[in-house]
Amino acid sequence: MGDTAKLELDGTAYELPVVVGTEGEHAVDISKLRAQSGYITLDDGYGNTGSCESAITFIDGDAGILRYRGYPIEQLAEKSTFVEAAQLLIWGELPTPAQRDHFSALLAENSAIPSDMLRHFGAFPAHAHPMAIMSGMINALQGHDLPGIHIESDGEFELAAASLLSKVRTIAAAAYKAHKSEPIVWPRYDLGFAENFLHMMFTQPYREHVPSAEAARALNMMLVLHADHEQNCSTSTVRMVASSQANLYASAAAGVCALWGPLHGGANAAVIEMLEEIRASGASVTEYVARVKSKEAGAPKLMGFGHRVYRNFDPRAKIIKKAADDLLDRMHVTDPLLDLARELEAAALADDYFVSRKLYPNVDFYSGIILRALGIPLDMFTVMFAIGRLPGWIANWKEMYDNPAQRIYRPRQIYVGSGQRDWVPSEER
Ligand code: SDX
Repeated sequence: MGDTAKLELDGTAYELPVVVGTEGEHAVDISKLRAQSGYITLDDGYGNTGSCESAITFIDGDAGILRYRGYPIEQLAEKSTFVEAAQLLIWGELPTPAQRDHFSALLAENSAIPSDMLRHFGAFPAHAHPMAIMSGMINALQGHDLPGIHIESDGEFELAAASLLSKVRTIAAAAYKAHKSEPIVWPRYDLGFAENFLHMMFTQPYREHVPSAEAARALNMMLVLHADHEQNCSTSTVRMVASSQANLYASAAAGVCALWGPLHGGANAAVIEMLEEIRASGASVTEYVARVKSKEAGAPKLMGFGHRVYRNFDPRAKIIKKAADDLLDRMHVTDPLLDLARELEAAALADDYFVSRKLYPNVDFYSGIILRALGIPLDMFTVMFAIGRLPGWIANWKEMYDNPAQRIYRPRQIYVGSGQRDWVPSEER
């Protein structure tokens, strides 16, 4: 491939620069195309459009590769704590022991939310979805953490990053407790990130919950696997909001809202709802798959399957599937939905409808099995995804904040509405 792309429009030839990434990805830089030719490009859903150059995460959708700052996800899932993966994503390097201890102390010292924020929980309707609470509480937290609204130094950024990472976990557990009308449980200084969350979720006034080592390990691995994923819908939303120079909390709150959708982070819960629907209906896997393939009005999608980028297996799905098996074995529990999920996967992977469309299990297909085994309720599944994705959002916000040449995101469009027309009085309409 050359270092320029040639394009002919209305008899005029244009040469556009070609940009090549670290792993050999090629892009045509069209930033000057409109000025030179009057043409814009159109790519509904941005499926073929790069919105930025980023040094944070690399995905090869055909080879099933995912790396955070160059480190393969398989190694990080096995060897890294979530806090270490967060430091890697945000600051670009695996932390030294001193950096790790420093940031862990910051997380511990900033894990409790201001007590007057507790009033907000009572103000949400009892049936409020935890993602609605999460998004609102993150913006409320900005008022406490960052009264000046804007981050003015690396130190302020580090503190805000630690506070967000740590307090979002506390807010999630507190939202769960408030929903159950149970007393909110404060974080403990001596517990790790994942253990502390499970402690805050499941400790009762009459009994301290001591998370098992396998439960903490499984949650830690899940959070690592969800920590970043290049320019997915919610991360692109974070960057869109950050591009107007909105503060870190506003960007993260917007990311929560984008993640909530069932086509994105809401899929982990939708998978379990799908499996429970199949089980309750008594329908066979074959019958359900036939409904999916029928594409009739209202036909369901196979939730947890398919991906815009992975046109082969999602490496995270492979890791989570094995972890689900291991966790249930070690906890000596069985989950009929796991058996059903396996059957559904096998049926889909043997069916040309899915294979021809390159639809494979994604990160959400098995993650709900682990969350169920940990005792986390269905409506908290997407909140778990948000807790995990926060380091990636923070890293992308920082990548823009650190770029003095960063411009506001402002896509163009092709207008397909009415031509010019004049206003008419209501009696003539
Ligand atoms: C996440 O982007 C990321 O990186 C996201 C994520 C992250 O870490 O941030 O990986 C997390 O969001 C994973 C995806 C979770 N969502 C789901 O599991 C929901 C189910 N999946 C689909 O909605 C869908 O596959 C998407 C949304 C994931 C991807 O949608 P695309 O790329 O827009 O695919 P498409 O709609 O263009 O589908 C292409 C074809 C269509 O059929 P035809 O028109 O060619 O006949 O595949 C079909 C679709 O109908 N199809 C499916 C399907 N997904 C696509 N058919 C049945 N079941 C499905 N799940």
